[in-house]
Amino acid sequence: MKKILVTGATGGLGFATAEHLLALGHVVLLHGRSEQSLATAAQALSQYSDQLEIYAADLSDLAQVNNFIEQVKEKHTQLDAIINNAGVLKTNTPISSSGVDSRFVVNTITPYLITQKLLPLLDGGRVINLSSAAQSPVDIRGLSGELQYSDAMTAYAQSKLAITAWTLYMAEEIKQTQFIPVNPGSLLATSMVKSGFGIEGKDIRKSVKLLADLAVSKDFDGESGRYFDNDVGAFGAPHPDAQNTNFQAELIKNLARFH
Ligand SMILES: NC(=O)c1ccc[n+]([C@@H]2O[C@H](COP(=O)([O-])OP(=O)(O)OC[C@H]3O[C@@H](n4cnc5c(N)ncnc54)[C@H](OP(=O)(O)O)[C@@H]3O)[C@@H](O)[C@H]2O)c1
Repeated sequence: MKKILVTGATGGLGFATAEHLLALGHVVLLHGRSEQSLATAAQALSQYSDQLEIYAADLSDLAQVNNFIEQVKEKHTQLDAIINNAGVLKTNTPISSSGVDSRFVVNTITPYLITQKLLPLLDGGRVINLSSAAQSPVDIRGLSGELQYSDAMTAYAQSKLAITAWTLYMAEEIKQTQFIPVNPGSLLATSMVKSGFGIEGKDIRKSVKLLADLAVSKDFDGESGRYFDNDVGAFGAPHPDAQNTNFQAELIKNLARFH
């Protein structure tokens, strides 16, 4: 039995992955944006297990992010895995309270803070970070709010390259924890795809099993620092910029300002 924190777990891939992990008998720390959405999700999941805890935080608000991290630390001294799943593409609030684009805050900065601050709990554990096939070169001014984006997909694709890059950087720096960036598959049937592209999307079951396996399966023992591309069902190459060590170093310097 393992203990796994899943962010953005009240819907889409996060909810289904939490459900899968609970059904396997694992303990799940379920994060959601609001108490209300968490209550609904917890009620639906209670048929599988009572092995779940709930944590509410708007991940576009760094004060709430830090409060959430402290709550996890108050309750736990050890975790087996974190699945940084929460993500945003289209939003009515593209600019976060810190002035930085919400896509960068939710998809890149928040998972970085969660990972950094919970690292001591994760010795020998795994960090599974949701990337995407949509990755494009990052304008670093986006991370400070100096540059604002008019197009959701541009901000999203840059934020996903950035999370891929810092995940690979951490894998190189920290050998006792596993770090795996993953594209769960493209155009999967979740609300992100329905609202972003106006289509139903593809069956999510293979993606959900993959996310759960990456977090807990022996098949991925010792695996770290490679990008899993579920559009091809194998490890593969992310955007070349994500592997560029100069870019990684510049990115980490900018992320450190959010500590
Ligand atoms: N679906 C795909 O085809 C696809 C492809 C590649 C990568 N991904 C990635 O997979 C991950 C899961 O996405 P999904 O497809 O399952 O989409 P989804 O159904 O929209 O789920 C996203 C989750 O993130 C949460 N979230 C977003 N903004 C938040 C915020 N400010 N504070 C707290 N929680 C927040 C959402 O909560 P609310 O419901 O409260 O908004 C939801 O639980 C994302 O990182 C996404 O980028 C998805």
